[in-house]
Amino acid sequence: MGWKSSITAAFLLLAGVDAQAKLQVNLDSTDSIKSAAKVVAANLWNYYDGYKPGRTPGILPGPPPGGDYYWWQGGAMWGTLIDYWHYTGDETYINETIRSIIFQADAPRNAFMPVNWTASMGNDDQGFWGMAAMLAAEVGFPNPTGANDPGYLALAQAVFNTQAARWDTEFCNGGLRWQVPHTNGGYNYKNTIANVVFLNIAARLARYTKNETYAHWAEQAWDWTENVGYIKPDFNVVDGGHTEYNCTDINEVQWSANAAVLIHGAAIMYNYTGNTKWRTRTAGLLNQTIEHFFPEGIMVERACELEDRVQCNVDQHSFKGYMHRSLATVAIVAPFTKSTILSVLRSSTKGAVNSCLADGTCGFRWDRNSYDGDKSRGPAGQEMSALAALSTLLLDQKHVNLGPLTNDTGGTSKGDASAGVGDFQEVDPLRPIRAGDKAGAAIVTILVLGSFLGSLVWMSGGWGQK
Ligand SMILES: *[C@@H]1O[C@H](CO)[C@@H](O)[C@H](O)[C@H]1NC(C)=O
Ligand SMILES: *[C@@H]1O[C@H](CO)[C@@H](O)[C@H](O)[C@H]1NC(C)=O
Ligand SMILES: *[C@@H]1O[C@H](CO)[C@@H](O)[C@H](O)[C@H]1NC(C)=O
Ligand SMILES: *[C@@H]1O[C@H](CO)[C@@H](O)[C@H](O)[C@H]1NC(C)=O
Ligand SMILES: *[C@@H]1O[C@H](CO)[C@@H](O)[C@H](O)[C@H]1NC(C)=O
Ligand SMILES: *[C@@H]1O[C@H](CO)[C@@H](O)[C@H](O)[C@H]1NC(C)=O
Ligand SMILES: *[C@@H]1O[C@H](CO)[C@@H](O)[C@H](O)[C@H]1NC(C)=O
Repeated sequence: MGWKSSITAAFLLLAGVDAQAKLQVNLDSTDSIKSAAKVVAANLWNYYDGYKPGRTPGILPGPPPGGDYYWWQGGAMWGTLIDYWHYTGDETYINETIRSIIFQADAPRNAFMPVNWTASMGNDDQGFWGMAAMLAAEVGFPNPTGANDPGYLALAQAVFNTQAARWDTEFCNGGLRWQVPHTNGGYNYKNTIANVVFLNIAARLARYTKNETYAHWAEQAWDWTENVGYIKPDFNVVDGGHTEYNCTDINEVQWSANAAVLIHGAAIMYNYTGNTKWRTRTAGLLNQTIEHFFPEGIMVERACELEDRVQCNVDQHSFKGYMHRSLATVAIVAPFTKSTILSVLRSSTKGAVNSCLADGTCGFRWDRNSYDGDKSRGPAGQEMSALAALSTLLLDQKHVNLGPLTNDTGGTSKGDASAGVGDFQEVDPLRPIRAGDKAGAAIVTILVLGSFLGSLVWMSGGWGQK
C-alpha cells in the first residue's frame, strides 16, 4: 500500500507540474498556431453554459451577482469565435454562435434589446452584439436557416437605426448617451465607447451596402467625438463627459476598447472612401495606439494594469482581444499599415502565449513571461484575448486578404434598411409608471454601477460627478 501511494503521490506531483507547463506554440507555423488556438478556444468554452438545457443561450454566466459577466460580453465572445472561424476554419462553434445571435437579437424587433438586459443596456452593450452580427456578414459566416430568422446584415442595420434615432442634440451639441433607459445611472454620460461603436457599425454598413447615409453618420460621429475633445489632436482617445457640464468635464482615462473600436471604423472609412483625411486619422490612431498600449511591443491595459498590481475589472480583462482583432482588420483594409501591425501583433501574441498554460488557461499580464494566476476577474476575458491574438496572427491568408465581404463581393447576408424601426415598445421606461416599476427602477440604478464602462467611470473617479 505504502509503495503504491508513493507512486500515486509522485504521479500526482508530476501531473501537477505538468499542468503548470506552458502552452507550446511555434508562431512561424500555421498548424501550430491553429492547434494552440483550438486548445484556448476549448478552454474558453468551459466558461459558457448557454447550450445546456435550462440555461439562456448566448450569455456568459451573469449578470453580477448571479455570475461574473454582463450581457455585452456574450456578444463580444461570439464576435471572437466568428473571427476564430474566419482565421482558422474550425467549425466547432458555428451552430451555437448562430443560435445565440438569433436568440439574443430578440424577435420580433431583432435589434439586440431584450427586456431582460435593460438594467445594463448601454448603446455600447447593444453595439457589441451589433458588431458581432456585422462581422458575421463580412466574413461570410454561415447564415441562419430558420424561416423567420433575420440576416446578420439586417441585425446590424437594426442596431444602427435604433442608435441613429437616439442621437441627441439637446446636450453637448450632439452625440449618443452611454445608457439607453433614462433611469439607468450613466444616462447623463456621453462617452466615447457609445459613439465609436456607432461610428464603427455605420462605417461598415456603408462599405458593405454602399449606402451613403451610413457614411454620413460615420463622419458625423467622428466629428462630434473629436470636437467635444474625446479624440485629442495627438490621437489619444479619452473616455467621456457629462451632459450637465456640456461634456466639458472630460474623464481623461484611456481604455484600449475605445481606441480599438475607433481605429477599426476609421480604417474602414479609409478603405471605403480612399480619402486622405481618413488615412491620416488611421495612421495617427495607429501611431498613438502602439505608443500607448504596446510598450515594449506587448499589449498592456495601462489604465488599470499597473506595474505592481492589476486593478482591472471583469470587463477590462477582455479588452486586449478587441485590440488585436481590430488591428488585424485595419492591416487588411488599410494595407499601408500592414507591416507595422503584423510586427506588433506578433510580438504581443508572443507575450500572450507566454502567459498560457498547456491546457489553454491564459493570463492577463502578457509582459510577465508566465501565467499570472489571475482567476478571480473574468477568466473568459483572458481566454477571449489570447484566442483573438493567436487567431489573428493568421491574417496573411488569401481569403482574409480579400478583405471583409460586401454585398458586391460575395457577401450573402440579407439586409433590411428599415430594421428595428416601427411600432416597438422602447426599453426606455419613460412610459407611465405602473405598480412594481418603482422598485424595478431602483434595482436598475444599483445594477448599472457594475455594467460595462460604468465601473470604469467609477474607478477613475468620474462616477462621483454624477
Ligand atoms: C451543426 O448543425 C448541423 C446541421 O444541423 C449538423 O449537421 C452539425 O453536425 C452541427 N455541428 C456541430 C459541431 O454540432
Ligand atoms: C430572459 O430571462 C428569462 C428568465 O431567465 C429567460 O427564460 C429568457 O430566455 C431570457 N431571454 C433572453 C433574450 O435572454
Ligand atoms: C440607406 O440607408 C438609409 C438609412 O437607414 C435608409 O433610410 C435608406 O432607405 C437606404 N437606402 C437604400 C437605397 O437602401
Ligand atoms: C457646448 O459645447 C459645444 C462644443 O462641444 C459648443 O459648441 C457649445 O457652444 C457649448 N454649449 C454651451 C451652452 O456652452
Ligand atoms: C507618429 O509619432 C511620431 C512620434 O511619436 C511622430 O513623429 C509622427 O509624426 C506620428 N505620425 C502620425 C501620422 O501622427
Ligand atoms: C481596401 O481593402 C482591400 C482588401 O484588403 C485592399 O485590396 C484595398 O487596397 C483597400 N483600399 C485602400 C484604399 O487601401
Ligand atoms: C445586394 O446584391 C443583390 C444581388 O446580389 C441585390 O439584389 C441587392 O439589391 C443588393 N442589396 C443592396 C442593399 O445593395
